[in-house]
Amino acid sequence: GLTRNFSSSTSLNAIKTVTIVGGGLMGSGIAQVAAQAGQNVTIIDINSDLLGKAQKSIQTNLTRVGKKLYKGDEAKINSFVQESFERIKVSTKLEDGADVDLIVEAIVEKLDVKQELFNKLDQISPAHTIFATNTSCISVNAIGSGIKRKDKYGGLHFFNPVPVMRLLEVIKCDSTSEETYQAMMEWGKSVGKTCITCKDTPGFVVNRLLGPYSAEAIRMLERGDASAEDIDIAMKLGAGYPMGPLELADFTGLDTKTFVLSNMFEKTGNPVFKPIPLLDKLVSEGKFGRKSGEGFYKYDK
Ligand code: 3HC
Repeated sequence: GLTRNFSSSTSLNAIKTVTIVGGGLMGSGIAQVAAQAGQNVTIIDINSDLLGKAQKSIQTNLTRVGKKLYKGDEAKINSFVQESFERIKVSTKLEDGADVDLIVEAIVEKLDVKQELFNKLDQISPAHTIFATNTSCISVNAIGSGIKRKDKYGGLHFFNPVPVMRLLEVIKCDSTSEETYQAMMEWGKSVGKTCITCKDTPGFVVNRLLGPYSAEAIRMLERGDASAEDIDIAMKLGAGYPMGPLELADFTGLDTKTFVLSNMFEKTGNPVFKPIPLLDKLVSEGKFGRKSGEGFYKYDK
């Protein structure tokens, strides 16, 4: 639970300073949980508008967490929000975030852009800095293929919304050292997550399983077997999921969903990940789900 965020680590190699590259939804969530745990955080993004938005959403979400932790105690809530918020710096310059214990990359899901980022960081960061990618489905090995510190590199895959979802997938590549792996596991625990370990495989555990489930739900709607509402009610009440598959796809973003599926199809060849005409149609119409105001459902913007 949330209270575990505050247990400080005693290990010699404990990670105390963190940089998050990418100020989007995932990046700001990761920054938030690290700041809540007492760590000094820097968020780097080339887009300064996005950094402003990230700070705003972090403040809102810190308040939600604070309210839950300190029910009704306004003074405690305010100091929790303020102290956590003050631990987060933002910058548009990569150099400002290079000298830290851990750098987590959460930028656009494009292999060459990620590779270029890590290659640059490898040049400007001190030797002890651990690098991790938050990619959902690109090969962790491929992303880090150009860096020298392969022993100090792996995957740290969070789930949306980061402050709420309790899981962290720790991806151990063949080249990840035992020391780095242990430091990543310990850090995950320090930010309040339960860590599981997975090899560098397409979609790791969660997306590898969620992909076929969600794809079949979309095909079910496409075939007209059941309505969107009934498919979602079915999985919430019949299988105990917090959201139905179509609601969840809208929540994650249909553009992201399409990307994950096509990437998984390319990597695994499993026909379950094949393109789905209904999904492609929605995306081509700019219906990306909740963030664009419409997907399988309509939303107030
Ligand atoms: N920050 C802080 N707190 C938040 C939050 C956020 N961003 N979003 C929600 N919360 C809190 C709320 O304040 C609320 O707190 P309370 O219990 O004290 O009232 C609690 O979480 C529940 O939120 P809501 O009442 O608004 O709504 P729900 O009960 O429906 O919960 C949900 C929302 C947590 C998103 C839940 O529906 C859920 O777990 N959905 C499934 C999400 C999921 O599967 N995510 C994984 C997607 S896959 C992925 O991320 C991988 C990537 O690679 C694509």
